[in-house]
Amino acid sequence: PAHRPFIVAIDGPAGAGKSTASRQLAARLGFAMVDTGAIYRTVALAATLRGIALDDDAGLGQLLPLLAIRFAPSGQPGGGQRVLLGEEDVSVEIRTPPMSLGASKVSARPVVRAGLLELQRRLALAAENRGAVLEGRDIGTVVFPDADAKFFLVATPEERARRRHAELLAKGDGSTFEEVLADQLKRDRQDSEREIAPLRPAEDAVVVDTSGTPLEAVVDALAREVRARQRRR
Ligand code: DC
Repeated sequence: PAHRPFIVAIDGPAGAGKSTASRQLAARLGFAMVDTGAIYRTVALAATLRGIALDDDAGLGQLLPLLAIRFAPSGQPGGGQRVLLGEEDVSVEIRTPPMSLGASKVSARPVVRAGLLELQRRLALAAENRGAVLEGRDIGTVVFPDADAKFFLVATPEERARRRHAELLAKGDGSTFEEVLADQLKRDRQDSEREIAPLRPAEDAVVVDTSGTPLEAVVDALAREVRARQRRR
């Protein structure tokens, strides 16, 4: 719809290149960026810190309204965002392998998904946004079924694990490739097989295979598609 910010949905499994592509696409278009996985990760972290089990629906339901989750610019060249829980910067803590699996666990709880819908929509539709790129698993299917452009990024499991492994290595995490691959397959299974908002492409999503494609080229393709749709809107 033309009366609201232009919404770009980028969904897909872990390691398909969503984060980097979304960040660069948002920077190129001058759009806001909403990393919805970071929100689920922050919920997993907050629950863990308070000793709430990640499948304790009652505990999670009480926790959610207490959480003030926001994004702030990282201030670094190339963009990027910090994730704040209250006044605390949790950007680094939420990216560990246990929090990846934890996020996948809490994200299977309907109470959590329902509790985060409003926040995701509000961040995207903020009045100052010309447009927003949302990155996640169910943006095109649930959060914004009427998004102006929908992409579903895929890549082979090995390629995805290779990328994730390289990212973790760069951060000084000592996980082996095999561990990263095993965690990722587990997370894919959890995310795809859950009953609520499972990972799947929306019917009208453009599926983009990023295996062996330089990121620049992926971002070029997405930006071209978005600009064509902006002209048509
Ligand atoms: O994109 P990510 O790896 O940061 O996401 C972490 C987990 O959060 C992922 O395994 C599943 C869940 N998630 C979700 O269920 N729905 C979203 N829109 C985003 C993430």
